[in-house]
Order: sequence, then C-alpha cells, then structure tokens
Amino acid sequence: NVLYEPSPIANAGPPDRFPPDSLTPDPAAGIYIVHASQGLYALSATCTHLGCLTAWKPELGIIACPCHGSKFNRLGVKIDGPAPRPLPWLKISISDEGDLLVDRSTVVTPDQFLRT
Ligand code: FES
Repeated sequence: NVLYEPSPIANAGPPDRFPPDSLTPDPAAGIYIVHASQGLYALSATCTHLGCLTAWKPELGIIACPCHGSKFNRLGVKIDGPAPRPLPWLKISISDEGDLLVDRSTVVTPDQFLRT
C-alpha cells in the first residue's frame, strides 16, 4: 500500500509577485507571504489556538482569526485573544526555476528573511 499525502511544499511563484511592504494571503495553501524591508518570509495562516484559518485584514493591518478572536501582527506575533503561540514562520527558498517555495512542514525562527 502506498499512502499519497499532499506535498508540504507550496509554490508561490516568482518572488517579484510580492511588492515591498506587502502581505499576500494564499488561503488555498494556508500561508501568508510577507515582503518586509528585511526581505521575504512566510507565515502559517493556521491559528495556533484550535486550528482555524486566519484572515488578513488590510484595513486594520492585522491577521485575525474568525473563530475566537485571536489577532496577530504581520510578524505573526499574537496581539489579542486565546492563541497560545505566534503564527509559525515557515521555511522558504528559491527553486531552480526561480519560484518561491514554502515548506509548510518546516518551522523556522522568526528572523529568517529571504533576500531576493
Ligand atoms: Fe483561532 Fe480559536 S481557533 S482563536
């Protein structure tokens, strides 16, 4: 028997899709791509409380969970609500084809910016 699992690697496409000072949700992949002044990083969009999918609120500049009201800033740091931990930073890299790859199975420390 062979068990096929979805790949933990999400292809976010060319990094120049993400303009400076932007946060781009990819709800299908369950991630956010952030382009900060230090470089690019990826956050998990899964709330660390009970696992609901969070949503970016551009008018407020925060990430909000619809389930029990947790709120996070664009670094993933919790600013309100019951979530016990920040949103994890996920490992990102550039493929041989030049696309941005997000490894949803690998959490990195929240200081690993990718410069393009
Ligand atoms: Fe997000 Fe409860 S699952 S606040």
